[in-house]
Amino acid sequence: MFALPMHTGKLPWLDSAVAEPAGSRGRVDHWDDAYSTRGVQGVSWYQPVPRVSLELIEMLEIPHDAALIDVGGGGSFLVDELVKRDFTDVTVLDISSSALEATRHRLPAHAPVRWVCADILGWEPDRRYDLWHDRAAFHFLVDERDRADYLSTMCAAVSPGARVIVATFAADGPEICSGLPVFRYSAADLTRALGDAFELVATQREEHVTPRGVTQPFTWVAGSFR
Ligand SMILES: C[S@@+](CC[C@H](N)C(=O)[O-])C[C@H]1O[C@@H](n2cnc3c(N)ncnc32)[C@H](O)[C@@H]1O
Repeated sequence: MFALPMHTGKLPWLDSAVAEPAGSRGRVDHWDDAYSTRGVQGVSWYQPVPRVSLELIEMLEIPHDAALIDVGGGGSFLVDELVKRDFTDVTVLDISSSALEATRHRLPAHAPVRWVCADILGWEPDRRYDLWHDRAAFHFLVDERDRADYLSTMCAAVSPGARVIVATFAADGPEICSGLPVFRYSAADLTRALGDAFELVATQREEHVTPRGVTQPFTWVAGSFR
């Protein structure tokens, strides 16, 4: 486990946020602090191998040259696994530059990864993605307007027929994550929350075990965006 330094200035390798939506500064501080205090392997959502993500990516038959984005990817090891599997166009977006920096340092210097430090609620995508992946970021949007913002950003960021994978705490999961309230979803609720353009292909339930040995049920949905 390793602790991370706090970063308040702009890092040269990061594509930065375009806008600073309401409450963004507090969110930046919260997440930078979470990663700096506990390290990417000490946070409750840490998983050494993102098994369900990889299974769903395989099930959806995502081509290796597809444009993938991991929204709220933070310190996740998904990008490591994607690079190992020769995916050539991967973007990791997160509000925490500390998390992105730690993740970037784990990877080979020339890994084909683009790092975007942005609040998803103010982000303006400058290209389209073939896969939108989000494990445990969407569930922090407890305000209906924020969920609507997220969905309109997703619509603007994905190519026609893009694949979407989203995971949240399950309906019987914890009510709080990282000290913040979350919205919990059944597969049906999450499918509905992703809007009419989302077409469900598969769901999964995962019993995630935190580094402290606590079990947290997750709901996963995978599908495509019309
Ligand atoms: C519970 S963690 C999950 C991290 C990662 N997806 C994983 O599975 O390990 C939530 C992540 O979402 C990021 N995040 C939270 N709110 C965000 C926002 N408004 N915009 C972008 N990232 C956000 C946090 O910095 C954190 O990395």
